Amino acid sequence: MTRRQLLKLVHWSLLVLTVLVVISGLGITQYQVVSAVSFGLLSKALAFKLHLWLWIPFVVAFIAHVLLTSRLFRRRRQTKSDSTDPR
Ligand code: HEM
Ligand code: HEM
Repeated sequence: MTRRQLLKLVHWSLLVLTVLVVISGLGITQYQVVSAVSFGLLSKALAFKLHLWLWIPFVVAFIAHVLLTSRLFRRRRQTKSDSTDPR
């Protein structure tokens, strides 16, 4: 897997996980609305279960995303490639 593909995978997993964490969170606090909107599919009990588990992959993806996109990481990579630059 190339670095670009890895970045994309992390970006989009994080986006999906964020949406799921927010929806499941709202499924606990606003369960009447969320349950009705999802035609009873996301019940309060399921939202609770999801919310208590989803934060783990969310935090992993979040940390990976911040590390992979941080300037520090990029600069170090750039410096490395600069030093091997024949110019
Ligand atoms: C839950 C919060 C976040 C979500 C859902 C998220 C999601 C995304 C997504 C989907 C992209 C890709 C956009 C694209 O490919 O066109 C992206 C890019 C980026 N994000 Fe985040 N992000 C979050 C938080 C952060 C944080 C906290 C930082 C900084 C510390 C950050 C820094 C960046 C950078 C620098 C890019 C551009 C990377 C590049 O393509 O060169 N993000 N983010
Ligand atoms: C990035 C967003 C979020 C993250 C990372 C997150 C994470 C967490 C975590 C780690 C817990 C504790 C679980 C435990 O007790 O083991 C929790 C509890 C809870 N969250 Fe979230 N949450 C987020 C967003 C939301 C949103 C948007 C809502 C609703 C508007 C929400 C509603 C709740 C509620 C009601 C509880 C308490 C459940 C209980 O009674 O124990 N969360 N959340």
